[in-house]
Amino acid sequence: MKLYKKLIEVALPLEAINKACVREKAIRHGHPSTLHLWWARRPLAAARSVIFAQMVDDPSAYVDVLRADPKLRKKAEVALRARKKLWDEACVLAKKAKGSALAVPEPGPAPTLDDTLADQERQRLFRIIEDLVLWENTTNEAVLQAARDEIWASWRRACAENADHPRAKELFDRKRLPAFHDPFAGGGALPLEAQRLGLESYASDLNPVAVLINKAMIEIPPKFAEKPPVNPRTRADRNMFAREWKGAQGLADDVRYYGQWMRDEAQKRIGKLYPKVEVTAEMAKGRPELKPYVGRSLTVIAWLWARTVKSPNPAFAQVDVPLASTFMLSTKAGKEAYVEPVIEGGGYRFTVKVGKPKDAEGAKRGTKSGSSGSSFLCLMSGTPMPFEQLRTEAKAGRMGARLMAIVAEGIRGRVYLSPTPEMEAIAMSAKPKDAPDTDLPSKALGFRVQEYGMTKWRDLFTPRQLVALTTFSDLVGEAREQIRRDAIAAGLPDDAKPLRDGGNGATAVADGVAVYLAFAIDRMAMTGNSLVRWNGVGEKAQHCFGRQALPMLWDYAEPNFLATATGSIDAAVFYSYDPLNWMQQTALGLSAQEDAATQQITNTKVVSTDPPYYDNIGYADLSDFFYVWLRRSLKPVFPDLFATLAVPKAEELVATPYRHGSKEKAETFFLDGMTLAMHRLAEQAHPAFPVTIYYAFKQSESGNDEGTTNTGWDTFLAAVIEAGFAISGTWPMRTEMRSRQIAMGTNALASSIILVCRRRSVSAPTATRREFLTALKAELPPALAHLQRGNIAPVDLAQAAIGPGMAVYTRYSKVLDAEAKPVSVREALALINQTFDEALAAQEGDFDADTRWALTWFEQSGFDEGDYGIAETLSKAKNTSVQGLVDAGILRSSRSKVRLLAPKELPTAWDPAADSRLSAWESVHHLIRALESGGESAAADLVVKLGVKAEVARELAYRLYTLCERKKRASDALAYNGLVQSFPEIVRLAREGGKPKAEQGALFAETEE
Ligand SMILES: C[S@@+](CC[C@H](N)C(=O)[O-])C[C@H]1O[C@@H](n2cnc3c(N)ncnc32)[C@H](O)[C@@H]1O
Repeated sequence: MKLYKKLIEVALPLEAINKACVREKAIRHGHPSTLHLWWARRPLAAARSVIFAQMVDDPSAYVDVLRADPKLRKKAEVALRARKKLWDEACVLAKKAKGSALAVPEPGPAPTLDDTLADQERQRLFRIIEDLVLWENTTNEAVLQAARDEIWASWRRACAENADHPRAKELFDRKRLPAFHDPFAGGGALPLEAQRLGLESYASDLNPVAVLINKAMIEIPPKFAEKPPVNPRTRADRNMFAREWKGAQGLADDVRYYGQWMRDEAQKRIGKLYPKVEVTAEMAKGRPELKPYVGRSLTVIAWLWARTVKSPNPAFAQVDVPLASTFMLSTKAGKEAYVEPVIEGGGYRFTVKVGKPKDAEGAKRGTKSGSSGSSFLCLMSGTPMPFEQLRTEAKAGRMGARLMAIVAEGIRGRVYLSPTPEMEAIAMSAKPKDAPDTDLPSKALGFRVQEYGMTKWRDLFTPRQLVALTTFSDLVGEAREQIRRDAIAAGLPDDAKPLRDGGNGATAVADGVAVYLAFAIDRMAMTGNSLVRWNGVGEKAQHCFGRQALPMLWDYAEPNFLATATGSIDAAVFYSYDPLNWMQQTALGLSAQEDAATQQITNTKVVSTDPPYYDNIGYADLSDFFYVWLRRSLKPVFPDLFATLAVPKAEELVATPYRHGSKEKAETFFLDGMTLAMHRLAEQAHPAFPVTIYYAFKQSESGNDEGTTNTGWDTFLAAVIEAGFAISGTWPMRTEMRSRQIAMGTNALASSIILVCRRRSVSAPTATRREFLTALKAELPPALAHLQRGNIAPVDLAQAAIGPGMAVYTRYSKVLDAEAKPVSVREALALINQTFDEALAAQEGDFDADTRWALTWFEQSGFDEGDYGIAETLSKAKNTSVQGLVDAGILRSSRSKVRLLAPKELPTAWDPAADSRLSAWESVHHLIRALESGGESAAADLVVKLGVKAEVARELAYRLYTLCERKKRASDALAYNGLVQSFPEIVRLAREGGKPKAEQGALFAETEE
C-alpha cells in the first residue's frame, strides 16, 4: 500500500488553533454544546483542524506537482536564495571554527528547492486551517468547501496510487470518502466536525445520554435537512412558510413551536404552583423604591431558600434554624440587596433590605461560623452546629427549608422581596406523583450529597420541582403525539416507522422533535434542583454542574419554570432550537451505544477520538442525573437505549476505586480496557490515515514540574504503543491563556495532547539503544527546524518534538539496551528530551560570536550583574572581548562588574544599517524593545531594516525562551515568547509597509502572492 505522510504528521499552525479554542470558550449563542451539557467537551476548533490535518497530505507527498507549476517554482526559487545565504553563513562559521575550541555544529544538508516548495505549500494549507478554525466560519460554506476540496484532492491521490491494491475496491473508492468514527464520542464535537467536513460520521459511546446527544448533533439534523416545519402556525403563515429552510432550520422552528405548546399546557396544569407575587404596602415599608409596585403582581424569577435543621440549643429545640451561607442577594454595585433575619417571639423571620448592609461581613457570612468551608451557628443562640450534626439531622429526615427571599421581575431589572407565608405554603403544597425513583450511587467521584441523607435522584429536587419536571416530561410524550398528527396533516407519509428504524415520515419527525424537547427538560432540571446557587453578581440561578461533581449546597435558588429568565422553559427551549438553526450538515450521521473495547464500527473508517482519562470524570454516575428524566420522556422512542433503570456502569473506562475495590484494581481495569479499545482502533482504522487521540492532562498534572515525562502521560503512551500503534506526532493543545500560566510562574503544560498514531508494521525490526540514539540524533534536529519554521510557540516546542522522537522509538518493535532489556517508554522520553536539548544547544552554533557569548552569560546571570573576570575569560572561549561587547552595545561594564542591557535600556534610535558590529543578540532585544514600546508595526520597521538577519533573530528568540523557561525566569520568557508569536504578523506588516531591498525581498517572498 502506498501511504503518504499527512500534514498532521509534519506540521500544524498550533497558535491559530489554540487561539480559536480559547475564544470559542466564551461563545454560547448558536454553539451546539448548548443543546445538552456534557462534561469536558473538546472545542470545535480543535476537532475541526485535527480531522482536516489528518486527512490532507503533507506537501512532501506531491512536491513533483508543485515543482511543475512555474509560478510556485519561481516563488520558491526566490525564497531558496535567502535560505541558501543563511546556510552559507553557517558553513563559513563552521569552517572557521574547525580546530578551535568552539563547538560549532555542522550546518546540515543544504536547503533544497523541494524543501522550499513543500514549506510554501504548507503555509497555504496553514492558511486554510487558520480560516477553518474561526468560530465565525463554522457555517461559512466557502471556507468549508475549500477544506473539503483539499481533503478530496488528497483522497484522489491516495486512490490513484493504490488503484492496484488487492482491496482497492473496499479501501480506495475515488468517488467516496472514507467514513469517520469516534468510539468515545461524548458530547459529539469530533463526529460533528467530521460531518461538517463532508464525511459520513459515526459516533459511539457506552453512555446512553452521550449516544442521544450525538443523535441530536449528527443523526437527526441531516435527516430533516432542507425540510420545512410541520407545525400548523408556520404552515398557516404563507410568507413565513415560503422562506428557504436551510439545513435544520425547519426542525428548529418545530422545536420552538412545540416547546411553546408545552409551556402553555404546563401553565394550565401547574400554573397555580407558580403564582405571581403581590407587592403589599407592608412589603414597601422602609423600601421607597418599592412604592411604584404596591398593589401590583410581579412575575417571580426565583425563590431563594435556606435549608434548616432543629436548633441544637435546648432552649430553642423546636426552632428550625437556617443554614445560610450568605445573606447577600445582590452584590452588584449600587444594586445591593440582602436578607436580614429578625428574631422575635421565640422564632425568627426574614426581611429583605436594599443598599449596603451595616454589618457587611455578617451579611456576607450568613449563619456560617467563619469563612467559606466552615460550618454554621444557630441563628437563635449562636451555638455551633458542626457538619457531623448536620449530617445526622439530614439523615434522620429532619432537614427542612425556609424561604429567605423572592426575586421578581421589576420594570428595570430584578426586585428582591421579603418572603410571604403564602408563597411558602404554595411551594409546600406540591405533591409529586410518580417521580423517578432511581437510587443515587452510594459513593461516586465528586458526589457529597449522599452524606446528607439523599439516597435517590429525586431527593435533589423540591416537591414543586418534581411536580413540574414530571409534568414536563409527560408533556414531551403528548407533544410527540401532537407532532405526528400535525406532520400527517402537513402531508408527510403516515408511516409507523420510527426514527430508530431509519424512518423519515410523520412518526420519525415526531421522534426527532421530541429529543430536543426532552433536552430542554434536562436543562430545566439542571437549574431546577436544590443544588442550584444564586449568583449575586449576575443575579441569576447557576446550574449545578459548574464542576464535574455534585457537592452539597445549603441555600439554593428555585427558578420559576414558567417565567422567561434563566431556568425557565422558555430559556431551555431556546437553547434546544437555537443551535439547530446553524446546523447545515447533509452527510449521513449515525450514533450507537457501544463499548469501545469491543466495538466493530471502526472498520476502515478515519478515527479521531478523545478517550476518558483515568479518574478525571465519572461520566456514568453524573449522567444518571439526566438519564432518569430522559428515560421518562423518551423510553418509547429509544427503548433499547433506555432499557436499564440507570446508565450502565460496569464497562465504563474510569479508574474509580469505589467501583473496582482498590486503587490498584481500578488502574489495572482502566489500562487493560484502554489498551483493548486502542487495539481495536489500530486493527480496524483505515490504513491510509493516521488515528488521532486526545490525551487530557489531569488538572493537578499540568502544574507539576516533571514536564513532559509525568507518570500518567508515559503510562498512556505505553498503552497506545502496546495496543499496536506507532506514534508519529504529539501536538500540545491549550484552551487556557498561556500568558496567565507563565505569569503565574507555572510550567505551562498543554491542557491536552493530540497523539498521532499509525498502525505499527508487524515486521518492525528491533534496535539497540545505540541505534535508537543515533537515529534520534540524525532525525530530531531537522524535525525541530521544521517545527520552528512552522512558527510553533516556544512553549509548545518541547512537547511537539516528542512526536518525531517517538516516531523513531516506535518504528522498532523493541529497543533493547546492552543487557538485552527493553528500553521503556519513560526512558525513551528522557532520551528524546536530552537529544532535543542538545539539538537546541547546537543551534547556538549558527549565531555570531557576540551572541554566543551573550547566550552563555545570560544562561548564568540573566540581566543581572556578574564578575568582570568571568566575563573576560568567557569572551576568550567565545572568540570575542568584553570591550568589543560594550562597543557592540549589548553590555555595560563598570569597575569589576558587567551586565547585559535589558531591552528597555537600548537606544531607540538604533539603526542596524549603521551598526558596524551587528549581532543577533542585539537584533532580538531591539525587536522586543520596538514591539513592547511601539507594537507590531514598530517591530516591522526594524524587520525591514534587518532583512534576512531577522530570521536569525527569530531563532535566537526561541532559544532564549526555552532557556528562560528551564530557568523559571517567567517575565523574560514572556517577552521572547511574545516576539516569536508576533513574528508572522510583524513579517506581514513588514511586507506590506516596507520597501524591501533586493535581499530583503527574499525573506518576505515566502508569503508573497
Ligand atoms: C472525554 S469524553 C469525550 C468527550 C468528547 N470528545 C466531547 O467533546 O464532548 C470520554 C467519553 O468516553 C465514554 N466512555 C467511557 N468508557 C467507555 C467505554 N468503555 N466505551 C465507550 N465509551 C466510553 C464516556 O462516556 C465519555 O463520554
